[in-house]
Amino acid sequence: MTERPALFSPFSLRGVTFPNRVVLAPMCQYQAEDGRPTDWHVAHHGRYASSGLGGAIAEATGVSPEGRISPGCTGIWRDDHVAAWQRVTRLYRAQGIPSFLQINHAGPKAATMRPWDGGGPLVEGSDEPPWQTVAPSAVPARDGWRVPRALEVDEMPGIAAAFAEGARRALAAGFDGVEIHGAHGYLLHSFMSPWSNRRSDAYGGDLAGRMRLPLEVARAVREAVPAGTPVLYRASCVDGEGGSLTLDDSVALARELRALGVDLMDCSGGGIPSGQRLAAQKPEPGFQVPYAERIRHETGLPTIAVGMITDPIHANSVIAEGRADLVSMARQFLREPMWLLRAAQELGLEHPSAVMPQLYAFYLRISA
Ligand SMILES: Cc1cc2nc3c(=O)[nH]c(=O)nc-3n(C[C@H](O)[C@H](O)[C@H](O)COP(=O)(O)O)c2cc1C
Repeated sequence: MTERPALFSPFSLRGVTFPNRVVLAPMCQYQAEDGRPTDWHVAHHGRYASSGLGGAIAEATGVSPEGRISPGCTGIWRDDHVAAWQRVTRLYRAQGIPSFLQINHAGPKAATMRPWDGGGPLVEGSDEPPWQTVAPSAVPARDGWRVPRALEVDEMPGIAAAFAEGARRALAAGFDGVEIHGAHGYLLHSFMSPWSNRRSDAYGGDLAGRMRLPLEVARAVREAVPAGTPVLYRASCVDGEGGSLTLDDSVALARELRALGVDLMDCSGGGIPSGQRLAAQKPEPGFQVPYAERIRHETGLPTIAVGMITDPIHANSVIAEGRADLVSMARQFLREPMWLLRAAQELGLEHPSAVMPQLYAFYLRISA
């Protein structure tokens, strides 16, 4: 009997087991109504809940109305959001796939139009009026964008509390855990990066100051959820072209997060300055895997590798070589929702129970 491919081995964090190592990356759908996920979300997640995933992370979801990226973004600040998300989480639960909600405050990149309406800042006359954005400093996310208001020190506990409350509601909605969004130029990343954080008080300056709010948020979220619940953190491990956050900074952040009881870093990149490439590196298959690898090896914190991972043999090698604990994919899952079926076959999976139990066995039989 051949060994089970590494990509199809289970993985556990606290009380939660991923049946395999392939995770759906968070993807904004811009289809929410007043923060509530809709039938669109049920269709989107239903597609993946029946695809044999190891886990799913649902899109960047505002912990407050001002924390949404756009008026079409989902929220988790009200009870009706909890009820609406239950329609999504039950799909994953029924298949034994752990699901996570990405909780977000969009900071200087909030109050934007849906991408198909242009994606720039909302203007008077948009379907929802623009709202005042906030950030560490009054630095627009990109040239010509709205100038955010610099947060006052006494507002920081309220930000951490909103994330904690969002995490509690996410669990009430049936998610198995949460992912704190600390990437892509949104509020927490904008505190980490010296490009956007020009403060000279306790929440800026040196790395300890720039990490302060992200760590306060992580601590508040950890304290808000039970011991068996995993807390993930998505980081932009480096800024985009022209930014200044370094991988060394992110290694230090990972170490501090681990000490606070965060369970995994989802290693993305880019987003500062806004509009620049995903990362300062050449986008090629697996271009962000080195972040996940270094953080995993130097801090002992489990990691997700993401970014142009599309090939089953490559994805399997990332896990088999110990470069990351999980891989996640976004665009390839849009192109090919049943990617896992192909991956299982290409990797010679012998025990169908790891992926789509009945369907896979039948598929193999009629494909023989
Ligand atoms: C339609 C779409 C929406 C996305 N929305 C989010 C999001 O809500 N949160 C997030 O952290 N990343 C988001 N991303 C980035 C992906 O999670 C992922 O990191 C990125 O696309 C690189 O992975 P890929 O090469 O497999 O697509 C989005 C990507 C796409 C294509």
